[in-house]
Amino acid sequence: MKVLFATSEIAPWVKTGGLGDVAAALPPALRQAGIDLRVLTPYYPAVRAAIPEARAPEVAKLGNFGGAYADSVLRAAFAPDGSRLLLLDCPAYFDRPGNPYLGPDGKDWPDNYLRFGLLSRVAAWLGSKANPFPWWPAVIHCNDWQTGLAPAYLKLSGDARAKSIITVHNLAFQGLFSEQTLPELGLPAHAWSMEGIEYHGYLSFLKAGLQFADAITTVSPTYAAEIQTDAEGMGMSGLLRHRADRLSGILNGIDTEVWNPKRDAHLPFTYDIATLAAKRKNKSALQQELGLTVRDDIPLFGVISRLTAQKGLDLVAALERQIADLPAQLAVLGSGDRELENEFRRLAEIHPGHFATVIGFNEGLAHRIEGSVDVFLMPSRFEPCGLNQMYSLRYGTPPVVRATGGLADTVVDDVNGFVFEEATAAALFTAIQRAHAAWHNRERWRAMQIDGMSRDVSWTAPAMQYAALYAKLKK
Ligand code: ADP
Ligand code: GLC
Repeated sequence: MKVLFATSEIAPWVKTGGLGDVAAALPPALRQAGIDLRVLTPYYPAVRAAIPEARAPEVAKLGNFGGAYADSVLRAAFAPDGSRLLLLDCPAYFDRPGNPYLGPDGKDWPDNYLRFGLLSRVAAWLGSKANPFPWWPAVIHCNDWQTGLAPAYLKLSGDARAKSIITVHNLAFQGLFSEQTLPELGLPAHAWSMEGIEYHGYLSFLKAGLQFADAITTVSPTYAAEIQTDAEGMGMSGLLRHRADRLSGILNGIDTEVWNPKRDAHLPFTYDIATLAAKRKNKSALQQELGLTVRDDIPLFGVISRLTAQKGLDLVAALERQIADLPAQLAVLGSGDRELENEFRRLAEIHPGHFATVIGFNEGLAHRIEGSVDVFLMPSRFEPCGLNQMYSLRYGTPPVVRATGGLADTVVDDVNGFVFEEATAAALFTAIQRAHAAWHNRERWRAMQIDGMSRDVSWTAPAMQYAALYAKLKK
């Protein structure tokens, strides 16, 4: 079974959130499950720096995609872990440093429709009869809006050889562009309809994927159900209900090697269930690193997150006084909305020694927070899957989560974490108080840590589910 996995992010080189982690860890698990898989991703500067030798055995000039794309080349390469990659080398579009979607001004690159239109188009081309390589994928597995046009290109081209899947990692990002982009993207005029890719007067890459893919998956069973409701379907619920027979939820796993407290190079002290006491040494090291008062008689809460409305961290900010008075400490690592960034900076200033805020994207610090804090906070308003609550389980850091999406599917209340229902500061605080009380009961706390650390959060089982879906589509 040959599968092309198309993605706009891949850790550790290009990652803005969970998709980057998934694109790095699911493909090796699929190969373990017997799938002959290649990952298609842009040849961003960070990928080029890591894999400068990307050329043989196959290099295809993509000149046939027209003027703007004339410079593109497809390079075959091996990742350091032996995975096979197809790197889309188009300097005009992808030779830009930093965040893959945003320019230095923090705004979307204005030509994102062309950049990810090209990525989608190349994915579809590899799944069509025009693919000149001897490697013909049976399934094109797309991820989020950035590759959402691929199923549309495939179906509309009339020469599809492969079936397509779109995995929705986040329905909030819909890839909306003006109608004028339609001809530039080489899409036929008849695609502009409600049954096509038109969405409230915009062209939506995500809707194109949902409309034309042979199967739709999302990253947890609960989120698969939620997005079919008008309340949580972000305007796509009607279409998703219409395609319900093609829609399923497959829970994400995590990379249990990259996120392994026993062998985590970012941690000053590594540990496992048998050596959990070492985690407390990490706590003092982190307190020192972040300028918090070094003490172990009160719990340290942690946050690692994109700072956006989705993540519900305004609820945490609203509880600053109550959290400080518990008493407890708080360490926040994140970036995103300017207002939230400033709010958490302000809280660190008014609670010195108690609250610490680091604004930015810092992989090493993210590992140290998981391996050092006592309790992880993830009060998301919605959460398709969420990875940090699973990292937290694995690191013996019981998470406080809202009962939504993948959080509801992975955390068991009072057993390995704390689950609350309402997206209000009051409901969150009740859960925080429960965590605070449980932490002071050392035996109970240890039992919760051990339960979380013993769960199977690997990609093994989810990869089997994807493999079964590929097989079903191929039939
Ligand atoms: P989402 O994809 O919605 O952002 P997930 O929980 O699926 O949420 O994945 C987030 C990933 O991004 C995790 O690996 C998390 O550790 C990482 N992350 C988020 N913000 C930061 C940050 N500021 N620094 C380092 N890693 C971060
Ligand atoms: C998205 C979601 C997150 C999910 C991740 C990977 O960014 O917000 O919940 O874990 O994708 O699937």
